[in-house]
Amino acid sequence: MKLSTTYLGLKLKSPIIVSSSTLTGSVESIKRCAEAGAGAVVLKSIFEEQILSEIRREEGYTDVDIYDAYPEAQEYLNTYMRGTEIEIYEKLVRETKKVVDIPVIASINCSDKGEWISIARELQDAGADALELNVAIAAFDRDLDPREIEKEYIDILKEVEKNINIPVSVKLGDHFTNISRMAFSLSKAGAKGLVLFNRFYNPDINIEKMKVVPGNSISAPEENHNTLRWISLLSSQEIPCELSASRGVYTGEDVVKQILAGAKTVQVCSTLYRNGIDYIKQMNADVEAWMERHNFDNVESFRGIVNKKEDIKVVERLQYLRRNYDLH
Ligand SMILES: Cc1cc2nc3c(=O)[nH]c(=O)nc-3n(C[C@H](O)[C@H](O)[C@H](O)COP(=O)(O)O)c2cc1C
Repeated sequence: MKLSTTYLGLKLKSPIIVSSSTLTGSVESIKRCAEAGAGAVVLKSIFEEQILSEIRREEGYTDVDIYDAYPEAQEYLNTYMRGTEIEIYEKLVRETKKVVDIPVIASINCSDKGEWISIARELQDAGADALELNVAIAAFDRDLDPREIEKEYIDILKEVEKNINIPVSVKLGDHFTNISRMAFSLSKAGAKGLVLFNRFYNPDINIEKMKVVPGNSISAPEENHNTLRWISLLSSQEIPCELSASRGVYTGEDVVKQILAGAKTVQVCSTLYRNGIDYIKQMNADVEAWMERHNFDNVESFRGIVNKKEDIKVVERLQYLRRNYDLH
């Protein structure tokens, strides 16, 4: 009871949400998350690209360029493939809702406002309690105006909202020139929640094979700090939507920090890959123990309290000033 809270108008037993990943890609695994004490789950995303790549594979492509246009002649195949992908995903929503009593948030990964938007309605009808939009627009084209990219985020959100009446949150990356402005614009456009931040696929180079290879997909605990900065900054500016802290949240202490900074909930993924799904129990217990030590009897009573003017001055600092480091 002590840990109960709300997020996107949904009742949660704990502020710890398992974020979209393979941990939330099967009913069995989601059941384990719920049993371990997760407040909610965000299902593994259905990817716009995943659907397109299947279509291209059917056409005989092996190296899929997901951003390529595909021939209109394949329209029927397009519809067919989407049908099967969506059916599988809807089944995941329906089956999950049957076996767990925690909110189930569906997730769509998208990069433009294409015909996939109708999927949102189908996920709502399948029983999803909310929808998280993982919008990831690749900004690698030097001629692309940042304002156009930002507008696309807003347009996607508005288009989705027209189609459904469950709450919608947006999961953002941190690659914006002005994150505050982007966040406030999304909130104004109707986002009920913002998830800060997504973590993108990172390339690495194998120096023996001299080839680009996938980098580590698991975050490091140190990544917590950037999340903390933006949760603090946005909550101190009283952004009128709820913030869910994601990336680098590893321990119960990290959960406490994000809530002190103003997060309504946190999302966890890498820590569970490293420590196992049952680690949610430990995290919940550690948050509760901290609350007891500090005489807080509910989560809301300490949310955002480390958000005074003097705290924000520190959060806003970018450079290390006149500090000497000992070199070993
Ligand atoms: C194996 C794996 C799969 C993931 N799949 C998705 C996904 O389908 N959709 C999504 O929005 N995020 C996905 N993510 C990102 C996580 O939800 C999360 O935002 C990211 O890992 C940062 O949080 P963390 O530091 O707790 O891991 C995935 C992450 C991992 C490691």
